[in-house]
Amino acid sequence: MWGTLIGDGIWLRLLERHHAESLFALTDRNRDHLRPWLSWVDQVREVRDSLAFIEETLGQLARGEGYALGLWLEKNLIGVIGVHPIDQINGSASIGYWLDAGHQGQGIMTRAVATVLDDLFFARGLHRVEIRVAPENHRSRAIPERLGFRMEGILREAARYGGRWGDLIVYALLDREWEAQRTVWGG
Ligand SMILES: CC(C)(COP(=O)(O)OP(=O)(O)OC[C@H]1O[C@@H](n2cnc3c(N)ncnc32)[C@H](O)[C@@H]1OP(=O)(O)O)[C@@H](O)C(=O)NCCC(=O)NCCS
Repeated sequence: MWGTLIGDGIWLRLLERHHAESLFALTDRNRDHLRPWLSWVDQVREVRDSLAFIEETLGQLARGEGYALGLWLEKNLIGVIGVHPIDQINGSASIGYWLDAGHQGQGIMTRAVATVLDDLFFARGLHRVEIRVAPENHRSRAIPERLGFRMEGILREAARYGGRWGDLIVYALLDREWEAQRTVWGG
């Protein structure tokens, strides 16, 4: 199976249909951890909801509009990183991610984002990558800040999270900025 080792036994691999049960189980045991930031979590009620997500992302991959990768520690799915959408005309993309609560604090998602940035900038030739984050989500904000993204502004009440309308900070990184940064983070 296609995969990229990002260190400490963690692999990034495309999410496929037969991963739906693992994805649902991971989501189900992380509901309290994810709910404050990711409003889709309560829409995922059974395995077929996770399957529908995977199928949607495989469709995006086929159309060149995005993809979703699982983070695997041996045979265990511990997180997801997704690129949705890729805008080929404007050379831009947006990254989203989440990790099992018990695997936070080890730099795993920072390394996963760095690996996806290499793919987006160097393999796919994109020019700009965004990450949008709630202002109060300090763990998530630390990732683009660590990787050299610039904070560009605030989208007012642009998302539904934690049962309310909340702002989103837009962070962005350009290809030339990643080239200057990646010796620190690249493999
Ligand atoms: C956002 C989220 C993925 C961050 O996970 P994380 O494990 O804290 O992030 P990283 O993998 O980059 O790890 C950073 C931590 O590892 C530490 N670390 C250890 N080795 C490291 C390394 N080589 N490189 C970077 N950080 C390292 C850092 O010091 C930091 O520790 P701290 O949290 O105590 O300050 C996770 O908290 C999550 O899933 N949250 C809920 C969902 C969510 O908010 N998603 C994002 C919506 S925008």
